[in-house]
Amino acid sequence: MFGRKKSIPQIDKDQLELIENAQKRIKQKKRLYVHFVIFLIGALFLIVANTVLGIAEDFKIFEIDWFVFAILLWLFFFIYHAFNVFITHKFMGKAWEQKQLDKLVAVQQHRIEQLKNNLKKEAPLIAESYLYNDTLNKKEKTSNLTIIVAAAQNDAIGKGNKLIWHLSDDLKRFKNLTNGHHIIMGRKTFESFPKPLPNRTHIVITRQANYKVPEGVIVVNTLEAAIDATKTDEQPFIIGGGEIYKQSLAISDKIELTRVHENFEADTFFPKIDLSVWKETANTFHTKDDKHKHEFSFLTYERL
Ligand SMILES: NC(=O)c1ccc[n+]([C@@H]2O[C@H](COP(=O)([O-])OP(=O)(O)OC[C@H]3O[C@@H](n4cnc5c(N)ncnc54)[C@H](OP(=O)(O)O)[C@@H]3O)[C@@H](O)[C@H]2O)c1
Repeated sequence: MFGRKKSIPQIDKDQLELIENAQKRIKQKKRLYVHFVIFLIGALFLIVANTVLGIAEDFKIFEIDWFVFAILLWLFFFIYHAFNVFITHKFMGKAWEQKQLDKLVAVQQHRIEQLKNNLKKEAPLIAESYLYNDTLNKKEKTSNLTIIVAAAQNDAIGKGNKLIWHLSDDLKRFKNLTNGHHIIMGRKTFESFPKPLPNRTHIVITRQANYKVPEGVIVVNTLEAAIDATKTDEQPFIIGGGEIYKQSLAISDKIELTRVHENFEADTFFPKIDLSVWKETANTFHTKDDKHKHEFSFLTYERL
């Protein structure tokens, strides 16, 4: 009852971990030392067994006594053991692991920051297009606004303001479907063309006030103005790129997708197609051949 209270050791978790780590290192080094002693005794025993006791005296490899090879093999295992204790442990010990972990966390945090910034930029635009869609639905909709896109398995669509692949039949399909129609595009996609495409009315969206274009090309400052400019067309096409696809997915009626069945590195992506909103209505598979380095499928989606 009046006895002294037992003192509780005041060691925090980190200190405990350090002590455990140090104990582990001591054990590893002790084991290596024991291995060294056994190796010396073992080597001596092998020499005596062969030379003094005459065990397998006549057994030689390349005129060399067998115990030499046995000792060398053992030496190799011993060096490997020592390497594990001093080198591998040094490079890949706890501190190394923690460093790698910190690096990974930093990369992920950077990526999260980037995604947050992108979302901040894009969210108002997407919300605007939903609002516009509502207004359009209240008026009577007469056109069939169609997105046309070629996207990889990982939704990649472009890199360095260029397409990633060349698929002859895909270009033909693009030409056939859009022929004679209005094609709506972002300023960057327009600039990726060497010149405007024949027999199509180009509508370029930009925020720039005095953007210069060749004759016949229409420049607008909003997606809504672009769609307004296609009133006479019963099937205007949205032809990209990434920014414009993102904003127009919510107000489109159809998607003509060329799905390239591979993953590609890219800086521009198509948004995920939500299958609770879109229904696949056509699907044609195309194999690789001389003109097509990748397998792909032509898919059509219609809004449910
Ligand atoms: N695989 C495919 O099917 C396909 C199709 C087309 C394009 N692509 C690729 O996609 C990439 C280009 O896409 P991207 O996302 O970088 O650019 P983009 O969508 O073609 O154009 C972006 C530009 O459009 C203008 N813009 C966007 N939203 C706007 C808005 N709400 N109001 C006014 N202007 C607006 C801005 O122009 P300003 O900066 O001038 O204001 C913006 O910089 C390229 O790599 C291209 O090859 C692929």
